[in-house]
Amino acid sequence: MHGVNLDQLGWRDPAHYGSLTLAELELKIGAYGRELELELRFFQTNHEGEFVEHLHRLPGLADGIVLNPGAWTHYSYAIHDALELTRLPAVEVHLSDVDAREPWRGQSVIAELCLARVAGKGTEGYREALEHLSAGMSRRAGTSR
Ligand code: DQA
Repeated sequence: MHGVNLDQLGWRDPAHYGSLTLAELELKIGAYGRELELELRFFQTNHEGEFVEHLHRLPGLADGIVLNPGAWTHYSYAIHDALELTRLPAVEVHLSDVDAREPWRGQSVIAELCLARVAGKGTEGYREALEHLSAGMSRRAGTSR
């Protein structure tokens, strides 16, 4: 799940976010998913309520969530609460190294709900996030992959 302003990838500062568009990033993530034998669905919105409502719909539809909520990460308790409601394993990912930028970007209101947080690894970070999620889902199912 991609949050606010992630649809502007390709136009946003490539020093932080790389030069891929969101569609190109999703193609890469899709390939990582196939390697890990995961079936992926993508979602992006710039509207916090839509992000929340998408989270509300996930139980029963998804086994886990990789999310980059963009700036909402740093302050949206509404997204925190909606993520908690899903009761699904989740991994937080950021393209940029949020801990090395402005201090407010180091704050994450969803970190406590996530199995792992991957930041500063660009596109590759999504592979790592999917690996964490896959391992977490296997632990839940009592199997090992
Ligand atoms: C981001 C980091 C956030 O601080 C920023 O607001 C974003 C993108 C990242 O992927 O590095 O929109 O989540």
